[in-house]
Amino acid sequence: MKVTPIQDGFGAEISGVDLSKPIPDDTFEALHLAIDEAGVVMFQDQVLSDIDLVEFSQRLGPLEQPLKRDQYGGIDERVTMLANVDDDGNLIKLSDKHGIYMKGNLLWHSDSSFKPVPCTYSVLSAKEVPSEGGKTEFADLRACYDDWEGPYGDIEKEELEDLVCEHSIIYSRSLISGDIFSDQEKKEMSPQRQPLVRTHPRTGRKVYYVGSHCSHVEGWPVEKGRALVRELSGFCVRPDHIYSHRWKPNDLVIWDNRSVLHRGRTYDPTQRRIMHRATVGGDGPLL
Ligand code: OGA
Ligand code: MN
Repeated sequence: MKVTPIQDGFGAEISGVDLSKPIPDDTFEALHLAIDEAGVVMFQDQVLSDIDLVEFSQRLGPLEQPLKRDQYGGIDERVTMLANVDDDGNLIKLSDKHGIYMKGNLLWHSDSSFKPVPCTYSVLSAKEVPSEGGKTEFADLRACYDDWEGPYGDIEKEELEDLVCEHSIIYSRSLISGDIFSDQEKKEMSPQRQPLVRTHPRTGRKVYYVGSHCSHVEGWPVEKGRALVRELSGFCVRPDHIYSHRWKPNDLVIWDNRSVLHRGRTYDPTQRRIMHRATVGGDGPLL
């Protein structure tokens, strides 16, 4: 196995390992360390069935249950579908209900930060990709925490350490998709409290745990909290701290939602894009 850094301390390409085959423990541990170090890693030419994807991803930890909306196209029930193709193989239009819902992925986010127990790693496997566009971008939240000096208004950086934010997918989708959820879904996906500063248990590194689902700061006027979240998210996505992945079929990218923000980019909606994602669940609530 070979690990080739992409940028200084952020992103790596890993080669010389077949993720569809059993991986010896010592190689797996080296792989796990490389993911933690880089925040996002990419592999080429990985032909994986859903079962292979699940089996590999489970070694990083027990998987999270996908949202019902993200289960279609005959996908394994432990895997999230990200595709503009429906159960019958027809293209989903951007103006269709599911097309509007999927627009949420265009905003910088950390997967499932709106859930009571947020996830850790996302493992995304590309099946079919458009000939251009449709990249996925990653930004380093750790460098954001380390480099952002504050103050925010009259509030010093140190004073932000113990703040709590409200995260909600109802909120984040309202920013780009409108009011798309049923009353039942709104009940099931009520806002969740998360720490503004999330510490990575394996590396000890800290991040500002922001992104689109992060709405506002508990105990602050809503607009003041939203402005802080915008400031920190904006600082995180500085162009020189972004890795932009241009997909080929059978690329596989693993990112750590504790270390990076990510977003999808637009593409020609008449072309097919099919991606399957396994998501590793967290150990428990962060607070
Ligand atoms: C995801 C995601 C963006 C993309 O898989 O969680 O946000 O480019 N993907 O498909
Ligand atoms: Mn995502």
